[in-house]
Amino acid sequence: MDTDTKTAVVTGASRGLGLALARELAKRGWQVVADARDGDRLRDALAGTGVRCVPGDVTDPGHREEILAAAGDVDLLVNNASALGPSPQPALAAYPLAELQRVYAVNTLAPLALIQLLLPGLRRRHGRIIDISSDAAVEPYEGWGGYGSSKAALDQLTAILAAEEPQLRVYAFDPGGMNTDLHQQAFPGEDISDRPDPETVVPALLRLVEGELASGRYQAAGVPA
Ligand SMILES: NC(=O)c1ccc[n+]([C@@H]2O[C@H](COP(=O)([O-])OP(=O)(O)OC[C@H]3O[C@@H](n4cnc5c(N)ncnc54)[C@H](OP(=O)(O)O)[C@@H]3O)[C@@H](O)[C@H]2O)c1
Repeated sequence: MDTDTKTAVVTGASRGLGLALARELAKRGWQVVADARDGDRLRDALAGTGVRCVPGDVTDPGHREEILAAAGDVDLLVNNASALGPSPQPALAAYPLAELQRVYAVNTLAPLALIQLLLPGLRRRHGRIIDISSDAAVEPYEGWGGYGSSKAALDQLTAILAAEEPQLRVYAFDPGGMNTDLHQQAFPGEDISDRPDPETVVPALLRLVEGELASGRYQAAGVPA
Protein backbone atom coordinates (compact mmCIF):
# COMPACT_ATOMS: atom_id res chain seq x y z
CA MET A 1 0.00 0.00 0.00
CA ASP A 2 1.05 3.63 -0.62
CA THR A 3 2.95 4.77 2.48
CA ASP A 4 2.18 8.49 1.97
CA THR A 5 -1.54 7.88 2.39
CA LYS A 6 -3.14 7.25 5.75
CA THR A 7 -4.32 3.68 6.18
CA ALA A 8 -7.19 2.45 8.33
CA VAL A 9 -8.60 -0.93 9.24
CA VAL A 10 -12.34 -0.92 10.02
CA THR A 11 -13.91 -4.17 11.14
CA GLY A 12 -17.58 -4.93 10.54
CA ALA A 13 -17.95 -2.56 7.59
CA SER A 14 -20.67 -4.19 5.47
CA ARG A 15 -23.48 -2.27 7.16
CA GLY A 16 -24.29 0.05 10.05
CA LEU A 17 -21.67 2.26 11.67
CA GLY A 18 -18.66 0.45 10.17
CA LEU A 19 -19.98 0.94 6.64
CA ALA A 20 -20.76 4.62 7.23
CA LEU A 21 -17.25 5.21 8.62
CA ALA A 22 -15.42 3.21 5.94
CA ARG A 23 -17.24 5.15 3.20
CA GLU A 24 -16.43 8.50 4.80
CA LEU A 25 -12.75 7.67 5.36
CA ALA A 26 -12.40 6.54 1.73
CA LYS A 27 -14.06 9.79 0.60
CA ARG A 28 -11.45 11.70 2.60
CA GLY A 29 -8.59 9.91 0.84
CA TRP A 30 -7.79 7.19 3.37
CA GLN A 31 -6.81 3.74 2.23
CA VAL A 32 -9.26 1.53 4.06
CA VAL A 33 -9.17 -2.20 4.67
CA ALA A 34 -12.54 -3.51 5.77
CA ASP A 35 -14.00 -6.84 6.83
CA ALA A 36 -17.26 -8.63 7.60
CA ARG A 37 -18.13 -12.31 7.42
CA ASP A 38 -20.50 -12.01 4.44
CA GLY A 39 -18.07 -11.16 1.63
CA ASP A 40 -20.72 -10.54 -1.05
CA ARG A 41 -22.58 -8.06 1.11
CA LEU A 42 -19.29 -6.37 2.07
CA ARG A 43 -18.17 -5.97 -1.54
CA ASP A 44 -21.63 -4.78 -2.69
CA ALA A 45 -21.86 -2.22 0.11
CA LEU A 46 -18.41 -0.79 -0.61
CA ALA A 47 -18.43 -1.08 -4.42
CA GLY A 48 -16.92 1.99 -6.06
CA THR A 49 -15.39 3.37 -2.84
CA GLY A 50 -11.88 1.99 -3.29
CA VAL A 51 -12.09 0.27 0.09
CA ARG A 52 -10.19 -3.02 0.12
CA CYS A 53 -12.52 -5.80 1.25
CA VAL A 54 -11.05 -8.71 3.21
CA PRO A 55 -13.98 -10.96 4.14
CA GLY A 56 -13.71 -13.06 7.26
CA ASP A 57 -14.51 -13.49 10.93
CA VAL A 58 -12.54 -11.35 13.39
CA THR A 59 -12.29 -14.33 15.74
CA ASP A 60 -10.29 -16.27 13.12
CA PRO A 61 -6.51 -15.81 13.58
CA GLY A 62 -5.88 -16.60 9.89
CA HIS A 63 -8.33 -13.87 8.86
CA ARG A 64 -6.62 -11.37 11.15
CA GLU A 65 -3.29 -12.21 9.47
CA GLU A 66 -4.98 -11.50 6.11
CA ILE A 67 -5.99 -8.07 7.40
CA LEU A 68 -2.39 -7.35 8.43
CA ALA A 69 -1.10 -8.55 5.06
CA ALA A 70 -3.59 -6.32 3.21
CA ALA A 71 -3.08 -3.23 5.36
CA GLY A 72 0.57 -3.25 6.41
CA ASP A 73 1.39 -0.48 8.89
CA VAL A 74 -1.79 1.35 9.82
CA ASP A 75 -2.57 4.81 11.19
CA LEU A 76 -5.97 3.78 12.50
CA LEU A 77 -7.63 0.61 13.75
CA VAL A 78 -11.36 0.73 14.44
CA ASN A 79 -12.61 -2.34 16.27
CA ASN A 80 -16.28 -2.06 15.32
CA ALA A 81 -17.50 -5.62 14.51
CA SER A 82 -19.71 -6.92 17.30
CA ALA A 83 -22.05 -9.70 18.33
CA LEU A 84 -25.15 -8.99 20.41
CA GLY A 85 -25.62 -12.60 21.48
CA PRO A 86 -29.01 -14.35 21.55
CA SER A 87 -32.07 -12.34 20.55
CA PRO A 88 -34.06 -11.70 22.64
CA GLN A 89 -31.22 -11.34 25.12
CA PRO A 90 -31.46 -13.77 28.05
CA ALA A 91 -31.14 -12.81 31.70
CA LEU A 92 -27.80 -13.78 33.23
CA ALA A 93 -29.50 -16.45 35.33
CA ALA A 94 -30.15 -18.42 32.14
CA TYR A 95 -27.48 -17.07 29.81
CA PRO A 96 -26.09 -19.98 27.73
CA LEU A 97 -22.37 -19.96 28.48
CA ALA A 98 -21.34 -21.11 25.00
CA GLU A 99 -23.17 -18.06 23.59
CA LEU A 100 -21.44 -15.85 26.15
CA GLN A 101 -18.07 -17.20 25.08
CA ARG A 102 -18.87 -16.29 21.49
CA VAL A 103 -19.93 -12.75 22.50
CA TYR A 104 -16.67 -12.29 24.41
CA ALA A 105 -14.67 -13.82 21.55
CA VAL A 106 -16.07 -11.30 19.03
CA ASN A 107 -16.45 -8.19 21.20
CA THR A 108 -13.47 -8.45 23.55
CA LEU A 109 -10.81 -10.99 22.56
CA ALA A 110 -10.79 -10.38 18.79
CA PRO A 111 -10.30 -6.61 19.19
CA LEU A 112 -7.32 -7.20 21.49
CA ALA A 113 -5.91 -9.83 19.14
CA LEU A 114 -6.13 -7.40 16.22
CA ILE A 115 -4.55 -4.67 18.33
CA GLN A 116 -1.66 -7.02 19.22
CA LEU A 117 -1.14 -7.86 15.57
CA LEU A 118 -1.27 -4.27 14.28
CA LEU A 119 0.52 -2.67 17.25
CA PRO A 120 4.06 -2.64 15.79
CA GLY A 121 2.80 -0.72 12.74
CA LEU A 122 0.58 1.52 14.85
CA ARG A 123 3.60 2.41 17.00
CA ARG A 124 5.69 3.20 13.91
CA ARG A 125 2.90 5.46 12.61
CA HIS A 126 2.02 6.99 16.04
CA GLY A 127 -1.44 5.79 15.19
CA ARG A 128 -4.84 5.56 16.81
CA ILE A 129 -7.10 2.81 18.02
CA ILE A 130 -10.85 3.26 18.41
CA ASP A 131 -12.73 0.47 20.16
CA ILE A 132 -16.47 0.84 19.66
CA SER A 133 -18.20 0.52 23.01
CA SER A 134 -21.77 0.95 24.19
CA ASP A 135 -23.81 2.54 26.97
CA ALA A 136 -24.53 -1.09 27.93
CA ALA A 137 -20.90 -1.25 29.11
CA VAL A 138 -21.71 1.07 32.00
CA GLU A 139 -25.49 0.89 32.54
CA PRO A 140 -26.99 -2.18 34.26
CA TYR A 141 -29.83 -2.70 31.77
CA GLU A 142 -31.69 -5.95 32.44
CA GLY A 143 -30.93 -8.51 29.75
CA TRP A 144 -27.75 -6.81 28.62
CA GLY A 145 -25.39 -8.78 30.88
CA GLY A 146 -23.63 -10.69 28.10
CA TYR A 147 -23.10 -7.96 25.52
CA GLY A 148 -22.74 -5.26 28.20
CA SER A 149 -20.05 -7.09 30.16
CA SER A 150 -18.13 -7.85 26.96
CA LYS A 151 -18.10 -4.12 26.18
CA ALA A 152 -17.18 -3.26 29.79
CA ALA A 153 -14.15 -5.53 29.46
CA LEU A 154 -13.32 -3.92 26.12
CA ASP A 155 -13.52 -0.49 27.78
CA GLN A 156 -11.04 -1.52 30.46
CA LEU A 157 -8.68 -3.11 27.90
CA THR A 158 -8.85 0.18 26.03
CA ALA A 159 -8.13 2.29 29.12
CA ILE A 160 -5.18 0.15 30.19
CA LEU A 161 -3.76 0.00 26.68
CA ALA A 162 -3.89 3.81 26.62
CA ALA A 163 -1.79 3.88 29.80
CA GLU A 164 0.65 1.29 28.45
CA GLU A 165 1.02 2.89 25.00
CA PRO A 166 1.24 6.63 25.66
CA GLN A 167 2.65 7.29 22.17
CA LEU A 168 -0.69 6.17 20.68
CA ARG A 169 -4.15 7.68 20.98
CA VAL A 170 -6.44 4.96 22.26
CA TYR A 171 -10.16 5.62 22.44
CA ALA A 172 -13.32 3.85 23.51
CA PHE A 173 -16.29 5.35 21.68
CA ASP A 174 -19.95 4.93 22.63
CA PRO A 175 -22.01 5.77 19.55
CA GLY A 176 -25.39 5.72 21.32
CA GLY A 177 -28.46 3.92 19.95
CA MET A 178 -28.60 3.72 16.14
CA ASN A 179 -31.05 2.34 13.60
CA THR A 180 -29.04 -0.78 12.63
CA ASP A 181 -29.34 -4.56 12.39
CA LEU A 182 -27.65 -5.03 15.76
CA HIS A 183 -30.06 -2.62 17.44
CA GLN A 184 -33.01 -4.37 15.81
CA GLN A 185 -31.75 -7.71 17.18
CA ALA A 186 -31.73 -6.12 20.64
CA PHE A 187 -35.32 -4.97 20.24
CA PRO A 188 -36.90 -7.76 18.17
CA GLY A 189 -40.26 -6.88 16.66
CA GLU A 190 -40.04 -3.23 17.77
CA ASP A 191 -40.09 -0.25 15.44
CA ILE A 192 -36.63 1.32 15.88
CA SER A 193 -36.95 3.78 13.00
CA ASP A 194 -36.88 6.70 15.48
CA ARG A 195 -33.22 5.93 16.30
CA PRO A 196 -30.61 8.00 14.45
CA ASP A 197 -28.96 6.57 11.36
CA PRO A 198 -25.32 5.52 11.84
CA GLU A 199 -24.16 8.21 9.39
CA THR A 200 -25.16 10.85 11.96
CA VAL A 201 -22.54 9.49 14.39
CA VAL A 202 -19.62 9.61 11.94
CA PRO A 203 -18.79 13.32 12.48
CA ALA A 204 -18.14 12.63 16.18
CA LEU A 205 -15.98 9.63 15.30
CA LEU A 206 -13.99 11.74 12.84
CA ARG A 207 -13.10 14.13 15.66
CA LEU A 208 -11.31 11.20 17.31
CA VAL A 209 -9.72 10.18 14.00
CA GLU A 210 -8.50 13.63 12.99
CA GLY A 211 -8.40 15.72 16.18
CA GLU A 212 -5.89 15.95 19.01
CA LEU A 213 -8.08 14.63 21.83
CA ALA A 214 -6.44 12.74 24.68
CA SER A 215 -6.89 8.99 24.93
CA GLY A 216 -10.04 8.07 26.84
CA ARG A 217 -13.69 7.07 26.64
CA TYR A 218 -16.01 9.31 24.66
CA GLN A 219 -19.73 9.32 23.94
CA ALA A 220 -20.85 10.44 20.48
CA ALA A 221 -22.80 13.38 21.88
CA GLY A 222 -19.85 14.48 24.05
CA VAL A 223 -16.85 14.46 21.71
CA PRO A 224 -15.51 18.02 21.82
CA ALA A 225 -15.41 19.85 18.49
N1 LIG B 1 -26.65 0.03 16.93
C1 LIG B 1 -26.63 0.51 18.16
O1 LIG B 1 -27.63 0.99 18.67
C2 LIG B 1 -25.35 0.48 18.95
C3 LIG B 1 -25.34 1.06 20.22
C4 LIG B 1 -24.17 1.06 20.96
C5 LIG B 1 -23.02 0.48 20.43
N2 LIG B 1 -23.06 -0.10 19.19
C6 LIG B 1 -21.82 -0.66 18.66
O2 LIG B 1 -21.57 -0.04 17.41
C7 LIG B 1 -20.82 -0.95 16.57
C8 LIG B 1 -21.49 -1.10 15.23
O3 LIG B 1 -22.76 -1.68 15.44
P1 LIG B 1 -23.91 -1.63 14.33
O4 LIG B 1 -25.14 -1.36 15.07
O5 LIG B 1 -23.46 -0.77 13.21
O6 LIG B 1 -23.93 -3.17 13.89
P2 LIG B 1 -24.49 -3.88 12.57
O7 LIG B 1 -25.26 -2.93 11.72
O8 LIG B 1 -25.14 -5.13 13.02
O9 LIG B 1 -23.15 -4.23 11.76
C9 LIG B 1 -22.21 -5.11 12.31
C10 LIG B 1 -21.12 -5.32 11.32
O10 LIG B 1 -20.14 -6.21 11.88
C11 LIG B 1 -19.97 -7.35 11.05
N3 LIG B 1 -19.61 -8.48 11.92
C12 LIG B 1 -20.37 -9.04 12.89
N4 LIG B 1 -19.71 -10.06 13.45
C13 LIG B 1 -18.51 -10.14 12.83
C14 LIG B 1 -17.40 -10.98 12.97
N5 LIG B 1 -17.38 -11.97 13.85
N6 LIG B 1 -16.33 -10.77 12.17
C15 LIG B 1 -16.32 -9.77 11.25
N7 LIG B 1 -17.36 -8.94 11.07
C16 LIG B 1 -18.44 -9.13 11.86
C17 LIG B 1 -21.30 -7.48 10.30
O11 LIG B 1 -21.19 -8.20 9.08
P3 LIG B 1 -21.36 -9.82 9.02
O12 LIG B 1 -22.60 -10.15 9.80
O13 LIG B 1 -21.42 -10.16 7.57
O14 LIG B 1 -20.12 -10.37 9.66
C18 LIG B 1 -21.57 -6.01 10.04
O15 LIG B 1 -20.79 -5.53 8.95
C19 LIG B 1 -20.72 -2.25 17.37
O16 LIG B 1 -19.48 -2.30 18.04
C20 LIG B 1 -21.85 -2.13 18.37
O17 LIG B 1 -21.63 -2.91 19.50
C21 LIG B 1 -24.19 -0.11 18.45
